[in-house]
Amino acid sequence: MRTLSFLLIAGATVHAQAIVPKLVGSIEQRSPPPTLFKRQQFQEPCEEVAASWVAQKANATSDQIYVPAQVAYDCLQSVPVDKDGDVKQIEELKQFLQFQSTLSYLKDRPENQTKPVDIIGELDAISSRVQQGAYTSDYEVQLAIKVLLDSAVDFHLRWSSDILEPFVFQRYGVLLTSLSQDGLSPPSIYLATDLAAMESFNFTPSPIKSINGKNATEYLYNISMQANYHDADARYNRLFLNKPRVSSGSVEPGPFAQGGLFDGPTTSFVFANGTNKTVENLAFVGPNFDFTNVTDGESFFSTFCQGGPPDDTEEATPTPTPTSRNQTSSTATPTPEATPTGYPTPIFFQSSLAVQGYYLNDTGYDDTAVLAIPNFGPKTKATNETGAMETQRLLRAFFADCIKQKKTKLIIDLRGNGGGTIDVGFEVFKQLFPTVQPYGASRYRAHDAFHIFSAAIADFASNTTVEGIDPDAYAYGSENNFYFGNIMNVDGQPFKSFQDYYGPYTFHNDTFISPRRYNFSNHAGGYTSSASFNLTGYAPEPTPPQPFDASNMLIIQDGLCGSTCAIFSELMREQAHVPTIFVGGRPMNSPAQGVGGSKGAQVLPIDALVENAELVAQYTLAVDGAAMSKLLNESAFGVLANPEQLKKRSAHYTAETIAGAMNALDNLKQNDSTQTPLEFIYEAADCRLFDTFESFFSPVPLWKRAVDARWGSGKCVEGSMGHSTAISVMKGEGFNKQQVNATEPFTGAAEGLRMSGLMAGGVAVVVAALML
Ligand SMILES: *[C@@H]1O[C@H](CO)[C@@H](O)[C@H](O)[C@H]1NC(C)=O
Ligand SMILES: *[C@@H]1O[C@H](CO)[C@@H](O)[C@H](O)[C@H]1NC(C)=O
Ligand SMILES: *[C@@H]1O[C@H](CO)[C@@H](O)[C@H](O)[C@H]1NC(C)=O
Ligand SMILES: *[C@@H]1O[C@H](CO)[C@@H](O)[C@H](O)[C@H]1NC(C)=O
Ligand SMILES: *[C@@H]1O[C@H](CO)[C@@H](O)[C@H](O)[C@H]1NC(C)=O
Ligand SMILES: *[C@@H]1O[C@H](CO)[C@@H](O)[C@H](O)[C@H]1NC(C)=O
Ligand SMILES: *[C@@H]1O[C@H](CO)[C@@H](O)[C@H](O)[C@H]1NC(C)=O
Ligand SMILES: *[C@@H]1O[C@H](CO)[C@@H](O)[C@H](O)[C@H]1NC(C)=O
Ligand SMILES: *[C@@H]1O[C@H](CO)[C@@H](O)[C@H](O)[C@H]1NC(C)=O
Ligand SMILES: *[C@@H]1O[C@H](CO)[C@@H](O)[C@H](O)[C@H]1NC(C)=O
Ligand SMILES: *[C@@H]1O[C@H](CO)[C@@H](O)[C@H](O)[C@H]1NC(C)=O
Ligand SMILES: *[C@@H]1O[C@H](CO)[C@@H](O)[C@H](O)[C@H]1NC(C)=O
Repeated sequence: MRTLSFLLIAGATVHAQAIVPKLVGSIEQRSPPPTLFKRQQFQEPCEEVAASWVAQKANATSDQIYVPAQVAYDCLQSVPVDKDGDVKQIEELKQFLQFQSTLSYLKDRPENQTKPVDIIGELDAISSRVQQGAYTSDYEVQLAIKVLLDSAVDFHLRWSSDILEPFVFQRYGVLLTSLSQDGLSPPSIYLATDLAAMESFNFTPSPIKSINGKNATEYLYNISMQANYHDADARYNRLFLNKPRVSSGSVEPGPFAQGGLFDGPTTSFVFANGTNKTVENLAFVGPNFDFTNVTDGESFFSTFCQGGPPDDTEEATPTPTPTSRNQTSSTATPTPEATPTGYPTPIFFQSSLAVQGYYLNDTGYDDTAVLAIPNFGPKTKATNETGAMETQRLLRAFFADCIKQKKTKLIIDLRGNGGGTIDVGFEVFKQLFPTVQPYGASRYRAHDAFHIFSAAIADFASNTTVEGIDPDAYAYGSENNFYFGNIMNVDGQPFKSFQDYYGPYTFHNDTFISPRRYNFSNHAGGYTSSASFNLTGYAPEPTPPQPFDASNMLIIQDGLCGSTCAIFSELMREQAHVPTIFVGGRPMNSPAQGVGGSKGAQVLPIDALVENAELVAQYTLAVDGAAMSKLLNESAFGVLANPEQLKKRSAHYTAETIAGAMNALDNLKQNDSTQTPLEFIYEAADCRLFDTFESFFSPVPLWKRAVDARWGSGKCVEGSMGHSTAISVMKGEGFNKQQVNATEPFTGAAEGLRMSGLMAGGVAVVVAALML
């Protein structure tokens, strides 16, 4: 049996840049800058990079190689355009992008979230400009493609080109944090390294007032456009050190500190106390890039942009290096014994720290348990169970103990959570609400390639003669995630026929298949990759009791939530009515959205489509013969089997052969007859809080403030409560004791929500002006 388990992964962090340089250390640690040679010695910027690389490589004591950002940028800009190759690459990419579910919605998305974009149309425009010779370097072409896909602000949609791989632009040692004096007034920006000094030396850090001569906040708004989150507060939060991610061993500091676009040769900060500091911007050169034979842009291209690494290349792919509070580094993959960094002693933690449990101490809080879930991708080195199984076991024990210890309240801290595998999201929900049937309907875009693919699978699975001709083809079809017989319709019933399932049905100027739900009793339905894992509530053994009342639960988010986290949050919000506190965001007194990441329900890697196209071709030949096989190979699906130019120009040092993916499934709201993807529906949190100096060092003060804000006499940021789409408002209740009247009346169920979230778009001109 061939399982396509990689189709399940719905997460931002899963395919993160494989090679990430060290970030830790003070700015001073890496000065003087690594400019080893005078520019005028070299005719070619790539020649200068190569000379610096050779010199640093020869120095046994330097572990990581950096060149000035300006030299790296000039080198990239000197790489000539590969006209024919780029035109071919764009044509191939367009075929795969047909699987992006949101193409038509992106064209006219609500203006206040981001600018609308016609992805396919813009790719055609890039292609024409390439043919007209409008680009000066191949770097500009590949960057234009990347920036275009990023402008969809959906982190499930991505493509990484080889030319963007050798250099990672970085502001060394410049990790930022955004903190409020009291947690309610607008926050200021600080250097995170200053905070560490504050703790050890009783030093008072001064906020950053300006960056490169511009208002610091506005400078960061501009940089935040590079973060592919659909919400502006989420994009802003993405620039700061994320302590919940650090707690589980990951840093990924965001495009201001690392991995952003070239932003000039230096960065200068002016602090509120009047002092200033200037750092040289650097480019990290990954360990897999050998500049020995690079002398100019052309040789850069022939060395790094003409195919994969030679087979004998040793796999040197260091994982991200996290920071800890005292700025010493540790390894990225935590050993099972490692406890969450910078967090209190947990009651339990899953091996890779994806799920952690705490009990609050102190009078007034000792009835409260905290479940921190920085990601939904638990991993384990154990051989007797998967990360999902371990999570299920540990959560059951934790909730049983909560009941025993009379913990009646639960905070679910989802800050930093960019997703994982959907079975873990559904499992956590089912343990919290064992009697609720998760809705979670989702939908593919209907187009020629998908039609052929779906029909082929249906045929392999249901044509009785196939099993006799080729049992492998039959198994491939009948056990496939994409086989309609393995899933259910919105009413939880089997589809009547392929036609009933596939449609196509027209919405918003595009065509889609019927909304589909998982059958959690059928492992072939695609909600889990493990045939031995039964979700709680769908297993032979008795289901444990519901551990908390919904009214005693609270979610904390920071906008980075997306993917599996978005699926989980939607179930908690819509089916269980659990309210949310948003933490951080822009320094504004306004509501904010808890889920700012992709709200799509499935990442479909290009590799997965290539593999399926090859399999379908193979089985078609066996089952239907040469004539049919020829037709298939020439079809919109057949051509996906051999994307030569994408293979050649893909980033090579990631886990993928072709480093790209689409969001294939729209997640849908129950009873929404317009079938608007949740991605395009505004859903405000119920309350907003800002981080403080105290909560920079430990999550406990924030957790306590959350308890106070929801159940005690604590406050939320002024103007952050009462948005018509907040679940407490939709329920017709206030979020807390302070909120006597919701500012807007209850607007009804999903229909009302959609109207207020979507149709009124285009109002917030100020916000729109900040968009890409
Ligand atoms: C070698 O690397 C070390 C550590 O980065 C540095 O201090 C030293 O100056 C380097 N030497 C040369 C000759 O570049
Ligand atoms: C001003 O603040 C910055 C940032 O916290 C700090 O590095 C610097 O030492 C301070 N200068 C003075 C004179 O206090
Ligand atoms: C910087 O910009 C922010 C956001 O526009 C604004 O609130 C703040 O007042 C500005 N600060 C200064 C010193 O101009
Ligand atoms: C930075 O500080 C130096 C002296 O420490 C001063 O000469 C310079 O003008 C300052 N630059 C800015 C932009 O404030
Ligand atoms: C550099 O070029 C020489 C001569 O063609 C070749 O032998 C060597 O393998 C090349 N090195 C790299 C790292 O490409
Ligand atoms: C810094 O962290 C490391 C690793 O967690 C630890 O071994 C060391 O004792 C810490 N140092 C200080 C000063 O806290
Ligand atoms: C509660 O107190 C215990 C014992 O002092 C401590 O280990 C733990 O970190 C505290 N937990 C929280 C959430 O503060
Ligand atoms: C796997 O091993 C752990 C540790 O020995 C044990 O606690 C757990 O119950 C085992 N899981 C299964 C599914 O057997
Ligand atoms: C559909 O497309 C037409 C023509 O491009 C356009 O006028 C119309 O507004 C679109 N409708 C929707 C719902 O996007
Ligand atoms: C999962 O459920 C199936 C069917 O109910 C059962 O046969 C199987 O033993 C269960 N697996 C586990 C690991 O509980
Ligand atoms: C079933 O498959 C056989 C063998 O390829 C083919 O001849 C036949 O037409 C198929 N039947 C249907 C109903 O598609
Ligand atoms: C975007 O528009 C929606 C609908 O009018 C509104 O509810 C929401 O508050 C706006 N969001 C922002 C960030 O202004």
